[in-house]
Amino acid sequence: MAQIYSRIMATGSALPERVLTNADLEKFVDTSDEWIHSRTGIRQRHVAAEGETTGDFATLAAQRALDAAGVKPSELDLIILGTTTPDIIFPSTACLVQHRLGANGCAAFDVNAACSGFVYALGIADKFIRSGQSKKVLVIGAETLTRMVDWTERETCVLFGDGAGAVVLEASDEPGIYATCLHADGGHKELLYNPVGVSVGFKDEPNHGVRIRMSGREVFKVAVKTLDSLVEETLAAAGMEASQLDWLIPHQANLRIIEATAKRLNMPMDQVIVTVDKHANTSSGSVPLALDSAVRSGKVKRGQNLLLEAFGGGFTWASALLRY
Ligand code: UT7
Repeated sequence: MAQIYSRIMATGSALPERVLTNADLEKFVDTSDEWIHSRTGIRQRHVAAEGETTGDFATLAAQRALDAAGVKPSELDLIILGTTTPDIIFPSTACLVQHRLGANGCAAFDVNAACSGFVYALGIADKFIRSGQSKKVLVIGAETLTRMVDWTERETCVLFGDGAGAVVLEASDEPGIYATCLHADGGHKELLYNPVGVSVGFKDEPNHGVRIRMSGREVFKVAVKTLDSLVEETLAAAGMEASQLDWLIPHQANLRIIEATAKRLNMPMDQVIVTVDKHANTSSGSVPLALDSAVRSGKVKRGQNLLLEAFGGGFTWASALLRY
């Protein structure tokens, strides 16, 4: 029997209209554009307006991907949405988006793998397609991370933004996704987490204690080391050499982390898609936002090999090597 691959038909993305620059932040936090840019590469981030939700951006990104693919929502077999900021506790945001698209009836679920959410969702979707279970799958990464930001805490509030990206995958005889690698190590929970929730309970604090806690320097060190071994593992799983890669499309948390991974792969920065300057860290939104911007700007072309990777709270880390 011929091998089934999953192939990206098209991409889409959506961002909040409101842009908050580093200069805007300087007005209410003790920080500077110089500090933020030199440490992270970030110049600005998009921030959801009151009332705008993760599902709003996810739906718009999905509609744009479906339009570009020429696929009707009713043709979808499955929707997987990576997020750590769902609209409500349940139903899942995937179910809310499914109904808004008019794709009612297909399977739909969320994946919470923090910043690796989209790449995890892509890996799961690939398994559904390879097994013959699904033919057309919508994969989304969407977040309103600024809902978990304490705007008085300069260590974290300068780092995050909101937005969503999506891809439509289809079953194909031709690659497609060559390999995906998914990992987690819950032993590092304390370095990057949000300590409140339904089961543990909430705190008598502003925003009920919903706030990102991060030991930035430690996360940075583990991220660089882990991504180094992840990219090696992914190349080996796909049976490829780094020299065969056309583009690195990394998680957009910190330009210095991205540069370290590019160096490990011996790839010049002009083969790396960088959007952290404009979007900041949008968690699950970051990789599909970067991918869509690269596709729509004409940088990424059909037939090119792309390495997608992400690292985030959990810790979780994940990658996909694919031919676009
Ligand atoms: O997406 C999930 C994964 N997350 C990440 O990958 C994030 C990984 N970590 C990082 O990106 C970096 O560690 C940060 C950007 C968070 C921080 O950069 P850093 O170079 O590790 O700085 P630091 O935390 O060591 O802080 C250095 C100094 C401190 O002052 P002292 O103690 O040296 O006097 C901080 O208080 O910078 C100070 N600082 C700031 N100054 C101005 C921290 N935040 C700010 C700020 N503006 N916003």
